[in-house]
Amino acid sequence: MEAIESRSAAETEALGARVAARLAPGDVIVVSGEVGVGKTTLIRGACRALGIEGPVTSPTFTIGQRYEGGRLPVSHLDLYRLESLEGEDPALLDDYLDGDGVAFVEWPAAGAGRLGRPALEIRLEHADGERRTIEIDW
Ligand SMILES: Nc1ncnc2c1ncn2[C@@H]1O[C@H](COP(=O)(O)OP(=O)(O)OP(=O)(O)O)[C@@H](O)[C@H]1O
Ligand SMILES: [Mg+2]
Repeated sequence: MEAIESRSAAETEALGARVAARLAPGDVIVVSGEVGVGKTTLIRGACRALGIEGPVTSPTFTIGQRYEGGRLPVSHLDLYRLESLEGEDPALLDDYLDGDGVAFVEWPAAGAGRLGRPALEIRLEHADGERRTIEIDW
């Protein structure tokens, strides 16, 4: 486990690049922390390091999106609006969790039991101002 202090969005993106360097096909990375703490920012940094060029934002109208064109295909899931997957189509996550790519999951609680064992767990917390404390279990 490592606790990293980030002082800016750029530093959080740079940490995302360090995460990206370790990823292998099939990895699931859960990213937790409060609204606005920087989960998407970290994932954007990872995507840029993988060579993905388009916008990387939290999906709004779907639970996830898929970014192609980088070293690995990336799924970006945000389960914030899902209370649980109970009663949902069991295949809901399958499109995003194939073994070729990696999947970043914001607000993973609703996916408990369906995401498999994460390769990495990242937790972000607000500190003063723009500072964030980021814990990674690598
Ligand atoms: N040290 C920092 N690390 C990350 N983001 C920061 C930092 N300091 C300021 N910010 C700003 O905080 C915001 C973080 O937004 P972001 O969308 O990444 O959060 P999020 O955790 O994904 O939120 P949500 O739960 O709503 O999806 C951005 O506007 C970013 O520029
Ligand atoms: Mg987000």
